[in-house]
Amino acid sequence: MPDPSENIKAYKSVHFSRTTITELMIPSYANFGGKIHGGILLSLMDKVAYVCAAKHAGNYCVTASIDTVNFLEPVEVGELVSLMASVNYVGKTSLVVGIRVISENVKTNVIKHTNTSYFTMVAKNEQNQPVEVPGLILETQEQIRRFEEARRRKVEKQNSINNARKTNPDMDLDECKQNLKGERCVIQVKKAQK
Ligand SMILES: CC(C)(COP(=O)(O)OP(=O)(O)OC[C@H]1O[C@@H](n2cnc3c(N)ncnc32)[C@H](O)[C@@H]1OP(=O)(O)O)[C@@H](O)C(=O)NCCC(=O)NCCS
Repeated sequence: MPDPSENIKAYKSVHFSRTTITELMIPSYANFGGKIHGGILLSLMDKVAYVCAAKHAGNYCVTASIDTVNFLEPVEVGELVSLMASVNYVGKTSLVVGIRVISENVKTNVIKHTNTSYFTMVAKNEQNQPVEVPGLILETQEQIRRFEEARRRKVEKQNSINNARKTNPDMDLDECKQNLKGERCVIQVKKAQK
């Protein structure tokens, strides 16, 4: 680990870039079932991730990937959604922004936790090239835990990509068909499409 005391200016605290966006859910955000579209929430998450990442990086940032997003509770029209973002992890040019989304019924003040997700953002320079981001100063046990969890997720993701690359070229169709028995699909491949 580099010693931050050598060049502390190259490091920023989690607090420095912590960002919250709050937005009222209006009827035009709703789907046919009257609940808020998942895409509206994803768009808000992307915005808050951008602001948080750009503040930390001091540069323009792009979304490289989004970890699984599970919507735990539906969001209703008239609720106030707050998205709280902070930098959990930094690599060389990438950083992981953790986002906690809550939704408040403004009449009853009941608050629901709708989801927590992780966005990997990459800082870019004027030439559109990835550029180094400042390191992260971890000031609490929670921040250390989040950094380590994000680092592990990154390693696991890389391992699973490598494993998928290893197995895919040799994938045996007969084995696939065997594994698909019991799944809710039927195989109707015409001879020419084999
Ligand atoms: C994401 C992107 C910057 C990666 O560019 P690249 O030339 O492959 O860059 P590199 O391989 O040097 O990787 C740069 C960093 O991004 C990370 N990265 C690249 N692809 C990634 C992915 N799919 N998920 C997570 N991190 C990723 C790398 O791990 C690396 O991180 P590090 O420097 O902290 O180690 C590039 O593919 C891009 O600009 N994509 C489009 C982004 C965009 O438009 N987003 C909006 C979508 S609508």
